[in-house]
Amino acid sequence: MRRIGVVAALAAAGLALAACSSGNSGSSGSSGTGTKASQVEVFTWWAAGSEKLALDAMVGVFNKQHPEVKFINGAVAGGAGSAAKDLLQTRLQAKNPPDTFQAHAGKEIADYIAAGQLQDVSNLYDEFGLRNAFPAELLKLLTVDGKIYSVPSDIHRANMVWANPAVLTAAGLDPKATYPKLADWFTALDKVKASGKTALSIATTWTQVQLLENVLLSDLGSDKYIGLWDGKTAWTGSDVGAALADYGKLLSYTNTDRDGLDWPDATQQLIDGKAAFNVMGDWAVAAFTEQKKTAGKDYTYFPMPGTVGVFDFLADSFTLPVGAPHADGAKAWLQTIGSAAGQEAFNKIKGSIPARKDANPKAFSEYQQTAIKSFGQDTIVPSLAHGAATPIAVLTAISDAVSKFGTGSSNAATFQTELAAAVK
Ligand code: GAL
Repeated sequence: MRRIGVVAALAAAGLALAACSSGNSGSSGSSGTGTKASQVEVFTWWAAGSEKLALDAMVGVFNKQHPEVKFINGAVAGGAGSAAKDLLQTRLQAKNPPDTFQAHAGKEIADYIAAGQLQDVSNLYDEFGLRNAFPAELLKLLTVDGKIYSVPSDIHRANMVWANPAVLTAAGLDPKATYPKLADWFTALDKVKASGKTALSIATTWTQVQLLENVLLSDLGSDKYIGLWDGKTAWTGSDVGAALADYGKLLSYTNTDRDGLDWPDATQQLIDGKAAFNVMGDWAVAAFTEQKKTAGKDYTYFPMPGTVGVFDFLADSFTLPVGAPHADGAKAWLQTIGSAAGQEAFNKIKGSIPARKDANPKAFSEYQQTAIKSFGQDTIVPSLAHGAATPIAVLTAISDAVSKFGTGSSNAATFQTELAAAVK
């Protein structure tokens, strides 16, 4: 049974700006928005490396579909939007929005909707024939009061472990082994550590938050994990305490330079044979592919120990902000985002799977085919680090607690108290 744990039971401030139905390039008169279709500023955090290559692929399709609209790249570097989201907030509050911006399905986009910062784009779903293009559960995460506020571009899985088989073999481990539980994995991590390599590579705070969500999911199981976000699982419980102890233990296997790195650096340590394992969303597969690494030979992958049968879900989507200076340019971009051609070109490179239901799995890599299958049959749970599970303010408070714990400014008990306070 598939299940999306975060469903849009989202109280939203009534936002009734109707986006006008218009041609791809014709002028429209959406309330308060500009009408020039000459350009579109697209705000993302896909600024470099494999993420930029994926964005470039989408832009390639966009240029074919809408040659009359100039693409302006508003990307702000920093994995998971670590810098972009703050800047976006500043711009939105100054009423200086980009024409369209990247937002995660679930609680993150609900924040923008509740703040009255997004236009309803339901009419574009009719105009572009998208009503049945996406999984209903995904659309629910973009919908408030029957109005849909963005077009999804991709679906990523956040509970994957990536491994370097040569490093594992050198440490005396079977590179094909998988680990049912964290306890089994610790034994392997000890062996790698003893071999002198970094057992688990990691980077700055947001990647640590993502590791934490993986540990909570592994130790608590999907029901209790979902309960952490809907109030049914107490953050103060001993089961959460035990998970936090496991998280602390995992951190002890990681590279000490972690706080100065972003995700591509941590993945690179694995590619370069300096580290054995890396827990990362499946955008990692895009980095391997960019460097011509072969699955099964240069790298392997498996779901986080204890999370087989669970798909830790996130999806990127694109919006039409209130007051977008080039609303028609944004609509043209949303059309490309929702199109089969745009989704195939982009997701092939991004490592994600298309949000559209009609994609042909055969067009995608070996890893992506496993993700398509998992998404179709696994229990779906919302990612913490990538906006599905909590509002932005909660994620910020959790990130602060994670950073304090990781830098030794708090102990396990304080960490647990701070997490509990963050989610309240
Ligand atoms: C996520 C985003 C992904 C990927 C990742 C790393 O938040 O949804 O598409 O970009 O950050 O930057």
